[in-house]
Amino acid sequence: MQLSHSLLVSFLAFADLVVSAPSSFSLYAYGNELVAGMRLFYADGYAYVGDSAPSFASQATNVTFSLTDDSRFVAYPIDNVTWTSNPSMCIGAGEGDLKTVGFASNYKNVSDGVIVTGFGLFGGYAYNSKAGSIEMYFVASPTNETGIYQIKWDASLSETSESIMPISLRTAAPATPSG
Ligand SMILES: *[C@@H]1O[C@H](CO)[C@@H](O)[C@H](O)[C@H]1NC(C)=O
Ligand SMILES: *[C@@H]1O[C@H](CO)[C@@H](O)[C@H](O)[C@H]1NC(C)=O
Ligand SMILES: *[C@@H]1O[C@H](CO)[C@@H](O)[C@H](O)[C@H]1NC(C)=O
Ligand SMILES: *[C@@H]1O[C@H](CO)[C@@H](O)[C@H](O)[C@H]1NC(C)=O
Repeated sequence: MQLSHSLLVSFLAFADLVVSAPSSFSLYAYGNELVAGMRLFYADGYAYVGDSAPSFASQATNVTFSLTDDSRFVAYPIDNVTWTSNPSMCIGAGEGDLKTVGFASNYKNVSDGVIVTGFGLFGGYAYNSKAGSIEMYFVASPTNETGIYQIKWDASLSETSESIMPISLRTAAPATPSG
């Protein structure tokens, strides 16, 4: 069962946030219309979930994360890729309420409006508090390849189109691996 976003947000607004985070974790997407617990991966600077990497990506790897003292999710590749630095998860700038979720290789130098801090975990759920209150507006947006979804951040939630699926990103792996 998936916690609704609004329920979780109001729950978190009153919660005591002193919770120890695991030092290294992976993120898995859970949503009513998704295979439970698809693992989040990196592909060409953006976050996806799915059965496999999209064929249009030139570089894709599963990642683990660590939570820094300044509230960043820093990604570490699992596969053999050469990165000159470990990128930080970010919520993109851009018009409208639907933002991309990606990876900033230099978190000290991002474009105006790009959010790299404010990330955290509560009870194993990933959130971002940069907007002032703790929010988790992650959604899965279908790509042009079956079974592969791009992770985005829907700041409005009211603009839910049929194709955009609200999800939770959790550190808990599925009981039965999804594949
Ligand atoms: C992530 O790991 C799973 C399970 O090992 C694998 O099937 C999948 O292809 C990997 N994804 C990427 C992008 O490497
Ligand atoms: C990683 O990739 C490089 C270049 O392709 C290769 O030389 C090296 O053996 C690989 N290392 C592992 C552990 O697979
Ligand atoms: C910051 O990024 C911009 C655009 O990518 C680049 O032109 C600039 O040199 C960078 N500044 C530093 C200090 O890295
Ligand atoms: C699918 O989407 C990717 C990313 O937007 C794009 O690069 C690729 O050209 C698209 N492929 C097709 C067949 O439309």
